[in-house]
Amino acid sequence: MPDKKTYYITTPIYYTSGKLHIGHSYSSVAADTMARFKKLTGYDAYFLTGTDEHGQKVERRAAEAGVTPQQFVDEIVAGIKELWELMDVQYDDFIRTTEPRHEVIVQKIFKQLYDQGDIYKSEYEGKYCIPCEAYWTQSQLLEGDLCPDCSRPVEVVREECYFFRLSKYQDWLIRYIEENPEFIQPVSRANEMLNNFLRPGLQDLAVSRNTFTWGVPVDFDSKHVVYVWIDALSNYITALGYGTDHNELYQKYWPADVHLVGKEIVRFHTIIWPILLHALGLPLPKQVFGHGWLVLDGGKISKSKGNIVDPVLLCGRYSSDAIRYYLLREMPFGSDGAFTNEALLNRINADLANDLGNLVSRSVAMVEKYFDGVIPAPAELTELEEALRDRALALPNLVENHMNGLQYSGALSEIWKLVGECNRYIDLTTPWLLAKNPEDRPRLGTVLYHLLACARVVAVLVSPFMPRTPARIFEQIGIADAAAQDWASLRDFDRLVIGGKVQKGEALFPRIDVPAELAALQAMQPTLEPPKDEKPEITIDDFAKIDMRVAEVIACEKVPKADKLLQFTLKVGGETRTVLSGIAKYYVPEKLIGKKVVLLANLAPRKIRGIESKGMLLCAEDDQDNLCLLTVDGDIASGSGIS
Ligand code: ME8
Ligand code: MG
Repeated sequence: MPDKKTYYITTPIYYTSGKLHIGHSYSSVAADTMARFKKLTGYDAYFLTGTDEHGQKVERRAAEAGVTPQQFVDEIVAGIKELWELMDVQYDDFIRTTEPRHEVIVQKIFKQLYDQGDIYKSEYEGKYCIPCEAYWTQSQLLEGDLCPDCSRPVEVVREECYFFRLSKYQDWLIRYIEENPEFIQPVSRANEMLNNFLRPGLQDLAVSRNTFTWGVPVDFDSKHVVYVWIDALSNYITALGYGTDHNELYQKYWPADVHLVGKEIVRFHTIIWPILLHALGLPLPKQVFGHGWLVLDGGKISKSKGNIVDPVLLCGRYSSDAIRYYLLREMPFGSDGAFTNEALLNRINADLANDLGNLVSRSVAMVEKYFDGVIPAPAELTELEEALRDRALALPNLVENHMNGLQYSGALSEIWKLVGECNRYIDLTTPWLLAKNPEDRPRLGTVLYHLLACARVVAVLVSPFMPRTPARIFEQIGIADAAAQDWASLRDFDRLVIGGKVQKGEALFPRIDVPAELAALQAMQPTLEPPKDEKPEITIDDFAKIDMRVAEVIACEKVPKADKLLQFTLKVGGETRTVLSGIAKYYVPEKLIGKKVVLLANLAPRKIRGIESKGMLLCAEDDQDNLCLLTVDGDIASGSGIS
């Protein structure tokens, strides 16, 4: 037997800075479905997913949570793996960028590019606030070149940094994209890349950082870590063992057939990634497909906006097969689509409960009722049966064509045309009337036989999309033989076991009472929304570390040349302290004298503008930029503890 054709598909590797939402599930479900489809149709398919775990954001979130970055990402990754299990996302490998097998090769890649002159050391120049450790662009700075965060003057800083010579490869890449129209899909995205980025000219890319440490160290210059995108993109080959002496998977599967990515990261995948591969002398992926976004109320669902749609909750309520179906059916793969509870519920009812569910349940029920559950043999065929058979036999090809263009929705809609035809066939042939007349018994048998046979075809075809539903259909229509459940079996319409038994089961997709369910979901909304400033739970011991005191304002004045700062002189019990606070915009200093305020007394002192500030005054702030100093209600001695 000749070797099977290979097929390698990937999802983006997701950031581990927070929980995943339904938008992330979208990419993973799409990739999983394609991998299953390719396996079903005889390919040796390999499906890679994983997590992108480095970077400053993770470092910060971990610090906020009081855990190490590794502990932080381990917990998130565990949750992600559970989600994929719940959604039947059956990957062949899961790569984490914190794994040694990945890091070692990223270092090797970086070194090779450096040795051959594609990465060079230079200086990055920018306006930098040293205490805040942040670069600011001219437009972000306050008047007089002051830091927008702390109002201190910024400095021009040159930082040593490694750069990747993207510019050298720009013309090559333009030509490559022009000559390979399949490379970037949909085509509109290719034009966007050419017109907005490539033709205007590429700048060399800063590919190392030395302001944080949670990354892959540059092994020959350990002050630096590798830029997260160089780190992340490499996952597609490090997972295959590229660069090691056990690189069989790399030999077998690279170049990838398709990288599925959201449209916002097409740029990284079609500019940085191909140039990196080309510089290494490696072949490019055959295709990068930039799919659209699932949008909620007109904006992209995002971890930072708070309007998260929890896939765990949705799968628990409606089954993962229903959610998978909805995701892949609702919008064409390259376009954006709205995600609404109502559209989801209506889709489940119409397509799954009604069309598919009823087809199976009615057919099986009629075989039970009229034939004691024994599958009848067909008798003479009419045009109606011929039409159904033709449609069913033509279907695998149509579905495969759609799938080859990553048109999941098109594929499903073809399958549902057969489902729709079957339901019309029931209406036309009126089996319940045929059942009344003994002479029509052969005709009745023919009709029911064709309905079950079509249900078998549909079950095979939906299996990549909805992995759990086919087994439930096969069981009901009496198909136990695996050979009647595979792709090859679709060449033959007649694979039912005549004389075998049907087995009525539960409804495949129970009908949902939409208004009631919408109300129930609505009632759950508050628990879906994370608190605005999500922080991890703490214990009383964490709180006990904080020393807060009542302080009396003795004096208060503006700090010269710092727009935002007020300098407070505070009486804290027997002690007098100087504290700076960036609230000049909100208060007239003299009016604060005599007030009793709340001081975070054991905050490490810091020097601002040459003045040492010992502690911090507590304020409340809303998102409309209103701010209030916390004061004490009633008369209590300064220095009193707060708990
Ligand atoms: O960008 N609709 O990770 P990420 C559709 N680590 N797809 C969505 C979506 C939505 N509303 N929201 C997210 C990163 N996605 C990088 C990738 S790859 C080498 C590194 C999907 O956690 C979509 O595929 O921000 C998008 O590209 C990806 O999740 C972004 O995930
Ligand atoms: Mg993103």
